[in-house]
This record gives sequence, C-alpha cells and structure tokens, in this order.
Amino acid sequence: MIKSAKDIGIGIIGVGIMGRGHALYLSDYVKGGKVVAIYDANQQTAQKVAKEVFKKTKLLPKVYDDLSTLLEDQNVKAVIIASPDHLHANHLEQAILAGKDVLCEKPLASKEKDARKVAKVVRNSKSIVGIGFMRRFDRPYQDLKREIQSDKYGKVLQIRCTSRNVSSPTATTSMLLTNVAVHEIDIIRWLLNEEIVSVGVNFAKTTSRANSNLSDPISVNCHTESGVLATIDICANSTYGYEVGMEVITENGSLVIENLGQLNIAYNFKLPTRKGGTLHKDWMGRFKPAYIAELTAFVNSLQKRKLDKNFATVEDGLAASIACGIGVKKL
Ligand SMILES: NC(=O)c1ccc[n+]([C@@H]2O[C@H](COP(=O)([O-])OP(=O)(O)OC[C@H]3O[C@@H](n4cnc5c(N)ncnc54)[C@H](O)[C@@H]3O)[C@@H](O)[C@H]2O)c1
Repeated sequence: MIKSAKDIGIGIIGVGIMGRGHALYLSDYVKGGKVVAIYDANQQTAQKVAKEVFKKTKLLPKVYDDLSTLLEDQNVKAVIIASPDHLHANHLEQAILAGKDVLCEKPLASKEKDARKVAKVVRNSKSIVGIGFMRRFDRPYQDLKREIQSDKYGKVLQIRCTSRNVSSPTATTSMLLTNVAVHEIDIIRWLLNEEIVSVGVNFAKTTSRANSNLSDPISVNCHTESGVLATIDICANSTYGYEVGMEVITENGSLVIENLGQLNIAYNFKLPTRKGGTLHKDWMGRFKPAYIAELTAFVNSLQKRKLDKNFATVEDGLAASIACGIGVKKL
C-alpha cells in the first residue's frame, strides 16, 4: 500500500516474528499509519524488515541501533513494542516518557512488580496505550461474547481452553503462564467481565521434546469471582500444528471456538455443522484478520486521540500479569 505524508509515523521495537508481522500488516492493510522507524537488537534483522517494508510502501524506515535515538525521532508519533516479554515494561516506560503513544505486545510484563510499576507510569501520562491481546479483535471471540451476553444460553459454568504450539525450544514452565496462558486469562476476563481469583497448575507426563526448564504439557486451572472454572490445557511442543480452542459450557448449551476460527453452538438438540480444514503452523495465520483489525483500531485510536473500546488497557494488562503471577508462585 502506498503511504501518504499525512499518515501517522509508527516505530517498531523488535522485529522478530511478531514485530515483522505488525510492520508488514501495517504496510499492506492499514490506512492512515506507516512504519517510519525500526529498532531491533539484531541490526541485520532490522535492515531486512526495513527493506521488506520499502518493497510494499516505497518508504524506507530509518533503522536505529538503540531505542533512545528512535524515541527522539520526531517523525515517530507512536511505537509498537514487540521485543521479548521481559523487556516490555522497560520499553513501554521509555516510550511513555518520550511522549509516544504505544501498542505494547502482551504480556504487559513477565513480573507482577514490573507490571505494577509501568501501569503507574501509563496512568500518569497522556499517551494512548493498548495492549496486544488481539483475540479481542478476533471475530469468533467477538461473536462468543455477544452470544454469552444474550442470556439465551443461561449462566456460564465452565470454560475449557486448549493451546498448542508446534515447538517451543526456549520456553520455561513459568512462560507457559506469563507468555501463553496470559492470552486465555485476558480473554476470559473480557468475556465474563469478571476477575480471576485463583490460579493453579497441574502437571502431566512431560514430552521428551521439552527442554530441562520446561514441564510440558500442563493444565492451568482458574476460578473467576462468581465461581466459573476455567481450565487451560497447554502443549508447547505439539509437533502437529498450532491450535487454539475454547468451549464455554453454559446452563443450556455449549459454545465452541474451533481452531479454524469459527464459533459453533450446540443448543436445543441442534449440533453445529463442523467444517474441515488445515492447521496453521503458528498464530500469524490463525489470527491474521485479528492483527489487522487490531492495527486498524490502533491507528484509528491515534487519529481520534481515544483508545478503541476493543483494546485491552494497561489495567487489563496488569490484571492478567497479576493472575499469571499467582500461577507462577504455585509452580
Ligand atoms: N499477540 C500475539 O498473538 C503474539 C504472538 C507472538 C508473540 N507475541 C509477543 O511478541 C513479542 C515478540 O515475540 P516474537 O515471537 O516476535 O519473538 P522473536 O524472538 O521472534 O522476536 C523478538 C525480537 O526482539 C529482538 N530483541 C531482543 N532484544 C531486544 C532489545 N533489547 N531491543 C529491541 N529488540 C530486541 C530480537 O532480536 C528479535 O528480533 C513477545 O513479547 C511475544 O509474547 C505476541
């Protein structure tokens, strides 16, 4: 997509799988915003992604070799943070102090104390800050929320989630909470408008593919304020494909999001028609429409100077980090 001089300049911090994805989706699909700067600890990676952006937009983003110089660039009005989890809080704080608006990838922080500290900085600023819990922009989860709120199916009693990654060579058991289950924890809070009050972990027999710091698979179990039980079954080395699913069991029905991105409702003795299909190798394929919707909502938020209502706020990010922290303490 060719960009115009009026488009809002966005800098990307960290252009691995996710940051590159944001840079390319922003370049291809999102009107009103353009990638003008990139910083990654790996300069080669940064240069490569800058060239890819140029191919799409005819605009070559500036590549910086440190974060503070990117943040001094007056053409950078907002940043997307897609660096590793443990750096988010620090990068977000620096971006806020430089007066930038921010789309910060999940999690807000890997540690509760960092999440609390940066949330305070955000609260005391005028910046627009959204957290990258993109499932809130995914159509099936939006359909599911609408159906739950319709009251047609009665109260929600239990939620069963599955989360599978093809392989996770550097994952640790605590990352299965702070990096993986954090998505489900956020979406459960959003679906039910309730806080998570307890988090526990059950261990399974560990796959031979797990590294020595990882117990895989695990089952995370949580209770919400009103007593809904949510289980999140995570397998980080599934080998067979990337899969994310959810069943919401209510008094009168079963509402299921299948991996292919569709909501199926079993209700009143009627079964949904289930489609076949292929598994994605990772999240970029399954959630592509959600990432594009999220980026579009971010640029709209910058134009209107008001965070889009679908975005997770810094308070949501903090709540998810606190809940994950409860689980990590149980390990
Ligand atoms: N919302 C989602 O669906 C989703 C999906 C995947 C990843 N993520 C999140 O995005 C972030 C990045 O994940 P990824 O899969 O792209 O990881 P990745 O390892 O592919 O990319 C991380 C990048 O950050 C760079 N980096 C490392 N240290 C840095 C530093 N000090 N400053 C700047 N850059 C630095 C690395 O060189 C690398 O290019 C993580 O926080 C992850 O949790 C979110």
